[in-house]
Amino acid sequence: MCKTIAIANQKGGICKTTSTFNISVALATMGKQVLMIDFDPQASLTISAGLEPLNLEHTVCDILKKSSESVTNCIYKFNNISNLSIIPSIIDLAALEMGMQTRTAREKILARALDSIKHSYDYIFIDCPPQLSILTVNALAACDYVVIPCKTDYLSYRGLEQLENTISDLKRLVNENVEILGVVATLYEKNVKDHNNILNLLHKKYSVIGVIKKTVEAVKGIYEGIPVVLRNPKADISVEYVKIANEILIRG
Ligand SMILES: Nc1ncnc2c1ncn2[C@@H]1O[C@H](COP(=O)(O)OP(=O)(O)OP(=O)(O)O)[C@@H](O)[C@H]1O
Ligand SMILES: [Mg+2]
Repeated sequence: MCKTIAIANQKGGICKTTSTFNISVALATMGKQVLMIDFDPQASLTISAGLEPLNLEHTVCDILKKSSESVTNCIYKFNNISNLSIIPSIIDLAALEMGMQTRTAREKILARALDSIKHSYDYIFIDCPPQLSILTVNALAACDYVVIPCKTDYLSYRGLEQLENTISDLKRLVNENVEILGVVATLYEKNVKDHNNILNLLHKKYSVIGVIKKTVEAVKGIYEGIPVVLRNPKADISVEYVKIANEILIRG
């Protein structure tokens, strides 16, 4: 049965998109059918995947509009990666988001759209924007699990409370099934004392399913649309992303 997983954190620049891409590719490489949804108007996942948002006929906007397009028309298969597809994003999503605020049952717009395609996938990953906006709320309402990337610094750690509160509200009011699958500690620098302290705190309070070090390996090759797990499978960070994918297989 399909599992839908939101990769969420209202903090910006803490590896949501990088984690979405690498974990998705790792699971697709294991033979799972995986769909990624770029749910951020910045379209970073779309661009990381080698797509040019302005050249696309359909994007995630089309499945959110009132007169919605068939979802299958908005799905693009990767030519170079088997078992992997993406629903891309575009900056227009920012304007569409404003219109979503006044819609009836606005939290469930994405959840309803995904119902028709879930049977085709083992995993659907939703790359959330860096706000607790109506888009993130829609992702949390549509998912079974949340994976939370968290940078190993104090303010990022403290920010998790806010996200947990939002998830609790969603669980109570909109999606009783949603669970936090785990936290991925990100941008970790082992020589920084604070990072080690925060990593210990994360381990104490949450289920940490992986620790992603800060490394230039993560950034190389992005303009070629190839994530590090494919470009350099032996790199520490790739090994860690595959470990996280395995953890998701076990738990999700
Ligand atoms: N392990 C890493 N080490 C160093 N830099 C990284 C690592 N992983 C990702 N990056 C870089 O950090 C930046 C932020 O990563 P990413 O886009 O994945 O974060 P994000 O949480 O999705 O950001 P946003 O909130 O803007 O959507 C990018 O430039 C990315 O290439
Ligand atoms: Mg992002």
